[in-house]
Amino acid sequence: MPPKPRLTHFLAIPLYTSLSAGQLNASLSRFAAEVTGTVVGSNATAAVEAATDLESAMDVLSGVNSYCNGDIIDSKTSSSWIPKEALRPIPSLHLTLGVMSLCTSQQLEEAVQFLKAVNLEALLDDAAAVATSVGTISTNTASYDTGRSQRREPTKNNQQYKGPVDCQTSQQQLKQPLVITLRGLLPMQAPHSTSVLYAAPYDPSGRLQTFCESLQKMFVAAGFVLPDQRPLKLHGTIVNSLHARSYRDRVTVAERGSRLDSGARQGRRDERKTPKKPLKLDARNLIESWKDEVWAEVEIEKVAICEIGVKPDPTDGLMKYRDIAWLDMP
Ligand SMILES: *[C@@H]1O[C@H](CO)[C@@H](O)[C@H](O)[C@H]1NC(C)=O
Ligand SMILES: *[C@@H]1O[C@H](CO)[C@@H](O)[C@H](O)[C@H]1NC(C)=O
Repeated sequence: MPPKPRLTHFLAIPLYTSLSAGQLNASLSRFAAEVTGTVVGSNATAAVEAATDLESAMDVLSGVNSYCNGDIIDSKTSSSWIPKEALRPIPSLHLTLGVMSLCTSQQLEEAVQFLKAVNLEALLDDAAAVATSVGTISTNTASYDTGRSQRREPTKNNQQYKGPVDCQTSQQQLKQPLVITLRGLLPMQAPHSTSVLYAAPYDPSGRLQTFCESLQKMFVAAGFVLPDQRPLKLHGTIVNSLHARSYRDRVTVAERGSRLDSGARQGRRDERKTPKKPLKLDARNLIESWKDEVWAEVEIEKVAICEIGVKPDPTDGLMKYRDIAWLDMP
């Protein structure tokens, strides 16, 4: 069997933009305050208010002050509790379109050049054409293609039509920026045992999914994005418990009721002996509580190739994925 490729980059749509940052800061800080246990058994109002101090909310979200600071897991509320380290930094929020293994600078450069040559406007137009033909598209590839080419014609006609008013209107509708809302809290696996919780993008114009699938297909066909048999499920990860390293130490501490320091040390010794199992969350209560949440309205600004692994941004110090290259939306 060939060795697993080392994943180095991913194709993404960043969701934390200058326009969405304020809303995302506010909504996700509130979420962080409510779910990280700061609220459990204490003054909830105070904790939420404290978290609107964005500085400390960012600490919470990036896990800076995360090590064993005395959170008690209350068995009655534990299914609404999330370890702080599992919350992804707000500025890292994105939609992943595919992962890449670009191990040499030449491979990376080729991928960057490939991205820069993509015609995003055409992809968006195609997605608009598909969106207007929803209902006529079957999953059968042949009729999908037919439906698509039939639908392209009115689009072309509109573009060629020179009548001043109508032309402008249709052009405007076609060229409207892609604005989505991020909504709810959904589990990547079973609700009672999941490591990832995400916000789903809702796109009233119906273009986002097709647009992203087309990009993914192009990058797979060109050999940059690794093929994935699963359908593309667009998701903005809010919680990923794989990042919650010290969680089991704390559970051990809480269960033993021993002193925090010695308990944590003991917990880490145990950790070395037993292979780490990914932590799964019972998120049923959380999913229900946050199902109607609208986290932010986001105008999609760019498609980017990002490096795997969040790092402090050199310009503002925020924990983000570094953009190696990007293409602005039309
Ligand atoms: C969002 O929060 C970060 C981190 O605290 C801060 O640097 C940034 O200015 C905030 N942005 C907005 C628009 O509130
Ligand atoms: C909770 O915190 C709020 C805000 O700091 C404060 O006004 C309120 O008196 C506190 N309530 C209790 C019961 O401590």
